[in-house]
Amino acid sequence: MLRKEQNELLTRTGPGTTMGEMFRRYWIPALLAEELAEKDGPQVRVRLLSEKLIGFRDSEGRYGLIDEFCAHRGVSLWFGRNEECGLRCPYHGWKYDVTGQCVEIPSEAKARGYRAGIRLRAYPMVARGGVLWTYMGPPAHQPALPEFEFAMVPPEQTYMSKRLQYCNWLQAMEGGIDSSHVSWLHRDALRSDPLMQGSRGNQYNLGDAMPVFEVAEHPAGLFIAARRNAEGGNYYWRITPWCMPSFTMIPPRGTHPVHGHFWIPLDDENCWAWSFDYHPARALTAAELQAMRDGKGIHTRTIPGTYIPLANRDNDYLMDRAAQKAGATYSGVAGIAMQDASLQESMGPIVDRTREHLLSTDTGIVKARLRLMRAARALQKGEPPPGTDPATHRVRSAAVILPADATFVEAAREALMARPGMAPASV
Ligand code: FES
Ligand SMILES: [Fe+2]
Repeated sequence: MLRKEQNELLTRTGPGTTMGEMFRRYWIPALLAEELAEKDGPQVRVRLLSEKLIGFRDSEGRYGLIDEFCAHRGVSLWFGRNEECGLRCPYHGWKYDVTGQCVEIPSEAKARGYRAGIRLRAYPMVARGGVLWTYMGPPAHQPALPEFEFAMVPPEQTYMSKRLQYCNWLQAMEGGIDSSHVSWLHRDALRSDPLMQGSRGNQYNLGDAMPVFEVAEHPAGLFIAARRNAEGGNYYWRITPWCMPSFTMIPPRGTHPVHGHFWIPLDDENCWAWSFDYHPARALTAAELQAMRDGKGIHTRTIPGTYIPLANRDNDYLMDRAAQKAGATYSGVAGIAMQDASLQESMGPIVDRTREHLLSTDTGIVKARLRLMRAARALQKGEPPPGTDPATHRVRSAAVILPADATFVEAAREALMARPGMAPASV
């Protein structure tokens, strides 16, 4: 349970908010590289941390992320013309380059000196691992580019998708570090999803629905471990790294690719669920890629031309009561992504955490909230937040069997580090 002001602190990420200031100290995913594939191609609206921006790619292939609205009289530059190294407002022709600098005011002969002083807010945007990342914080504190393993492996080993989720980023992220719900909500997927099925670990997940949680700190965040009974008095551990502020990685299953998420606020009541799958040691197979495009695993099918899920709140997530009754799905909603999103959206745009009743299986969530609040408050006093150094991003999830007396964070130390070319530790 949180006090009202703690819930406010954690969930508000607009300009000037405590958590917003902290989010702005990290590189975060802004767009899929495929959204700005062509030079001088169509620009796209980007809403991030409650700011309205426009992303575009200029004639030289440079990426720009600038204020959505023209400095002249506030027209949305989504209507603009992307041409000759800049975005031109269609109202009176003012033109801006990728740095937000106004480079032309063609409607007035004497505007030359005047335009030099006109510059739209702009943030850097850089491609890495199929993602266009942005940094929206103070330029003096801009860290080196992120080095999460999914973004560093060769392109044929990694796949990224994103979908819009209609709720605050934190309640979506809290689902990402909550291993306990898998034994319930996703039990059908463990049996039938092509990107999950067939691993021995699934049996432990289904066989022991009362995991015991342990949490250990790492420099960028936490390792959240859920322990279930295995044979011979050993334990099956599923270990989820969480990196501040909102990167989570799901433990692997068998020889399947590994997956995880970024949960990025558009504004306080909506977030992007970024979803990646990669294998550190091999290319993804054609069948795996097809399954991901078909919305299997943690991905989802979206309305063509958008990143809005096909099953969404307007159609009750295609609820199938017969499938629910027959046990084909546990909640009646199909697919892991929308099983999660439907329930998280059902809590309302920002869940009231003053009314919750937490248990020991929520330990990871409690500790992550505490770490976020502590870091956000410390930043207000000038202490830089943890996890901005790319060296701290080189973590991995793991699924391992350990003897009963082992301490997970020590026994699985190697397995929890990104090791180029090495397969994940997985059961
Ligand atoms: S409003 Fe953009 S040029 Fe006038
Ligand atoms: Fe889930």
